[in-house]
Amino acid sequence: MNKEIIFENNKKWIADKLSIDENYFENLSKGQSPEFLYIGCSDSRVTAEDLMGGQPGDIFVHRNIANMVPNTDLSSMSVINYAVAHLKVNHVVVCGHYFCGGVKAAMQSADLGILNPWLRNIRDVYRLHQEELDAIADEEARYKRLVELNVQEQCVNVIKTVEVQNAFKERNLKVHGWVFDIHSGKLIDLNIDFDKILSEIMEIYNVG
Ligand code: CO
Repeated sequence: MNKEIIFENNKKWIADKLSIDENYFENLSKGQSPEFLYIGCSDSRVTAEDLMGGQPGDIFVHRNIANMVPNTDLSSMSVINYAVAHLKVNHVVVCGHYFCGGVKAAMQSADLGILNPWLRNIRDVYRLHQEELDAIADEEARYKRLVELNVQEQCVNVIKTVEVQNAFKERNLKVHGWVFDIHSGKLIDLNIDFDKILSEIMEIYNVG
């Protein structure tokens, strides 16, 4: 890609949209009411809307390194607040991906500067599930499992927020943990049992 191509692509994209609906952008400018909040990795290979077949207006997107939801991160906390409490999305997705560079980095002992505190959140996930992970002899299988467990723990972080807890009481909000498999292009639902997790942790994290 280069800059010229991007601006050319944009012209073609506008023409495509207008050829289907001449009021496309006028309608788009009226507002948004997405059903989904998607929290995923910044990895250039994991294109949120594209892999889900989403159109503009369908999905509120937040991406960072390794799809993290740390409770001290003002950015992800603000995104959850706005999407859940104001846009009233009915689904919150945390989507990880196999062969995630952020997760890989957290499995190695290297000083990565400003990335250290960010990746430490993934090391905490490893520590929480150390028994299970250490028992996996195959390194690639262990790496993939950490990607899945990281998704699960970030979903738990989503559930810890007051916005999501309020939404659980007010409406049928669903939280989903997914993994994108770069090798096959498949989106995998981890089918995390949030009712079980919630019953186990809510005594500690209940804020309302
Ligand atoms: Co990644």
